[in-house]
Amino acid sequence: PPMESLLNLDDIEEVATKQVNQKAWAYYYSASDDKFSKKFNNEAYRSIILRPRVFRNCEPCDLSSTVLGHDLGMPIYVSPAAMARLGHPAGEAGIAEACRSFGAMQIISNNASMTPEQIVKDAAPDQVFGWQLYVQIDRKKSETMLARINKLKAIKFIVLTLDAPVPGKREDDERNSFVGASAPVPSEVKEGEKSNETPDVSQASGGVGKTLFAGTDPTLTWQETLPWLAKHTDLPIVLKGLQTHEDAYLASLHTPQVKGIILSNHGGRALDTAPPAVHTLLEIRKYCPEVFDKIEVYVDGGIRRGTDIAKALCLGAKAVGIGRAALWGLGAGGVDGVRRTLQILSDETKTCMRLLGVETVDGLGPQYINTRMTEQQ
Ligand code: FNR
Repeated sequence: PPMESLLNLDDIEEVATKQVNQKAWAYYYSASDDKFSKKFNNEAYRSIILRPRVFRNCEPCDLSSTVLGHDLGMPIYVSPAAMARLGHPAGEAGIAEACRSFGAMQIISNNASMTPEQIVKDAAPDQVFGWQLYVQIDRKKSETMLARINKLKAIKFIVLTLDAPVPGKREDDERNSFVGASAPVPSEVKEGEKSNETPDVSQASGGVGKTLFAGTDPTLTWQETLPWLAKHTDLPIVLKGLQTHEDAYLASLHTPQVKGIILSNHGGRALDTAPPAVHTLLEIRKYCPEVFDKIEVYVDGGIRRGTDIAKALCLGAKAVGIGRAALWGLGAGGVDGVRRTLQILSDETKTCMRLLGVETVDGLGPQYINTRMTEQQ
């Protein structure tokens, strides 16, 4: 269908569901156990009530913002998600192309289906990328990747994912590893075109997720791993997958290397019934608000509407990530599908800001929301 006929993220997911193959669908859609966290992620935004102010000029409305001192066209980024080429041959480079049109940031997965060099090849001079690391049991492999990343000017920071020392139990993904003999990846990803360390998922028995996690080191600690990482890169470090105010506070003690944290439950794909990022954001506001002064805080999980984005920004998030929504965009229409996803979110966020009576991202704050319903839970 023409992309303009898709009006919201649900429309895009519906088209993608029909277009991507069953294995890709199962891997993208899947979440752990009974998928409670995946459900909480979006519901958490719905129980936050907006407090619009009136009689205010809301023209123009400006989404420009910054992350770690880099200018962005909007405070929305594409979260690291493995294997974009399972869903569409344009893959992660296609996502990069769409992000370029909007000044949106992209975090490249450790398990991308293209090399980081390929993904940033046509980067605009001011385009911002992060690169996400799963530390490998064979540390040499991660060190080799970091050496490559350090050479790529477009990559501005390293994201170290911590919420999945082992993958969650994703039954949709596991079930579909038994579907059909042929997996789509080998024909789409030619030898030498995938990022070095991404395992071959063509023979993925037990699910794509499990196969991808096979070499991941589950022994990481604050004491051992941060110094190791700082030895292998001078890039700022962002810790991903924090889910409590205690860990957010601990991260804030590790400046100057750690410059940011991503509150995330991995899209509900790691520990089921783990909290949605907005709950963690509320905890930090309550117990250790000084964290916001020391490091930048980003959130992802369950973003479906511009109002979700505006609420996270009101609560102190510096930027908001989309995982599946970008993959569904890619699956629905390649580069144009991701563009459509970003356009919808950008338009909806602007509409929300205008109706709240706020002209700029910096103008959003806690005075525009009522979290009583959330706190009663
Ligand atoms: C992910 N996510 C993820 N995170 C990460 O740090 N490294 C990775 O390789 C992946 N891979 C991945 C694959 C797929 C198919 C999905 C859906 C997710 C988690 C991702 O970065 C993000 O936290 C969530 O996707 C956010 O939730 P939503 O937007 O999908 O609801």
